[in-house]
Amino acid sequence: MTMLTPTADSLPGALPFSLAAIPGLPDETALARLAGEFFRALPGGEASSSPLAPGIKGLAIGEPGPALQPFAAPSVGQAPVEAGPVAPEFGVPEAYAAALPMTAPISAPAGVPGSPYYFLGEAAALSSAHQAPAAGADNHVVAHPFELPGEAALRRVLDELAGERSLPAAAPPSAPGHGGYYFLDQPASVPQSDVGRFPAFDVQAVRRDFPILAERVNGKPLVWFDNAATTQKPQAVIDRLVQFYQHENSNIHRAAHELAARSTDAYEAARSKVARFIGAGSAEEIIFVRGATEAINLVAKSWGRQNIREGDEIIISLLEHHANIVPWQQLAAETGARIRVIPVDDRGQLLLEEYQRLLNDRTKLVAVSQVSNALGTVTPVKEIVELAHRAGARVLVDGAQSVSHMRVNVQAIDADFFVFSGHKVFAPTGIGVVYGKRDILEDMPPWQGGGNMIADVTFERTLYQGVPARFEAGTGNIADAVGLGAAIDYMERIGIENISRYEHDLLAYATQRVKPIPGIRLIGTADDKASVLSFVLAGYRPEEVGAALNEEGIAVRAGHHCAQPILRRFGVEATVRPSLAFYNTCQEVDLLVSVLQRLARGKGRAVS
Ligand code: ALA
Repeated sequence: MTMLTPTADSLPGALPFSLAAIPGLPDETALARLAGEFFRALPGGEASSSPLAPGIKGLAIGEPGPALQPFAAPSVGQAPVEAGPVAPEFGVPEAYAAALPMTAPISAPAGVPGSPYYFLGEAAALSSAHQAPAAGADNHVVAHPFELPGEAALRRVLDELAGERSLPAAAPPSAPGHGGYYFLDQPASVPQSDVGRFPAFDVQAVRRDFPILAERVNGKPLVWFDNAATTQKPQAVIDRLVQFYQHENSNIHRAAHELAARSTDAYEAARSKVARFIGAGSAEEIIFVRGATEAINLVAKSWGRQNIREGDEIIISLLEHHANIVPWQQLAAETGARIRVIPVDDRGQLLLEEYQRLLNDRTKLVAVSQVSNALGTVTPVKEIVELAHRAGARVLVDGAQSVSHMRVNVQAIDADFFVFSGHKVFAPTGIGVVYGKRDILEDMPPWQGGGNMIADVTFERTLYQGVPARFEAGTGNIADAVGLGAAIDYMERIGIENISRYEHDLLAYATQRVKPIPGIRLIGTADDKASVLSFVLAGYRPEEVGAALNEEGIAVRAGHHCAQPILRRFGVEATVRPSLAFYNTCQEVDLLVSVLQRLARGKGRAVS
């Protein structure tokens, strides 16, 4: 029997042995692809590529979400999300952290499947748990024999693995020739009642929906910890773009033909999805732009020029991204208005008393982020809006870093404007959103002129469309707006509360593991944080840490994160910034920690 040597790369998507040891086997990427084809070819596998336990599926267009426990959604996204009880065997952070003594070596914590073939572990767990299978359960997939290129090799590897890992004798019975793996040959039945024991969120099922997560970088499985810069795209979004260009592509609103109707419908449906996603009162309150930066520029150039005068004050916070600083500076320079800045405490939390002191009858606008891209601080936007409104000011909330991590309801927050970027919510680049209260938008002049935004043009004058078309001059990013709609559908199928809860636990786990590493200084330790774990490591420049992580396939941003003022508040010009999304895992965090520990051990070297 060929001996399979475990490697250090035992992450989801990786093979836990050296493939070079197996003559004639396809390379790892090919094998991963073949495995994908294999699972897709299972009955019902067109949309459900998951080899997981019955009831848990990957997500694709038109599919219901994975088997998730119901979660009572709070009505407003600002409420903290409590982690519920979870089963330990699916990599849910809370359970994972509980199973992992903080002093233990990083790899293969107890209670967590050590193999990227986590479903082998699940099979074992299921088989031992299911002592008395109930008859007639239909919540599982039955595989039929079929052949795929590489299938025999894949089976051989799985046989080897099973031998090495000694799957229990109680493993489900199988049809001849299929090696006893439940995803190849389902057990005759699985108790219906056991569906309820699945965790609320299955990160491994989610990961299979993101094809890029199977990518290798520097020979290592990709670990995408640069979600604050941009998120990866699920297959459902990629498929939606393909569908659009194959079956619907046309300009919108402008023709009597069938494809114009299809593309207009798809574009306007996306607008309605965005409105629902952020709790807007109507789709007319949603303007499509290129991204959050363009969104803020629209408000500054249109509402700002109309409403801000010399001596007026615009309040922003020290946490802001340059995109929520520079347009207001430009407006202030143009109009003679003054910018005032809400300071933060040493943990990166806004000082609300200072904010209250800044508010006065000259304050015309408050523009704040809901989540800081550099520190991860979640700001109390509802309170900020309320205080601003009492002072008679309008409020713009920058949701670029919030909408992918928590439920947002613009009406509950009572924001006058809310902006975000599609590419940070698993949608394509080049599409973003301005939400504005209808009465405010209706009073605002267009900021760009051209086609689509006009009702009638003569050489003497132009009549504009109503909202939102008035703000969408020219041909917009139609396909990517449709892609944004698909991304929203995808997130909603998983459940925003499930995402919040999972990420909350994952960030807590990552913080707990990174903080004790010698030489680490966390930048931003607010009580309420989302996604971001910014730090510096003594003896290394952030870009050196970023490069070392990249060597191991781990993508982080290392730099100033387009937020220089807040980093300078902490005395640094740059940080290393891992930023998490719901497809990241504790195993990935462990890998990050192992690299940082290695660097920390090598400290003492001078910073060049
Ligand atoms: N705003 C993006 C970031 O924080 C690009 O990385």
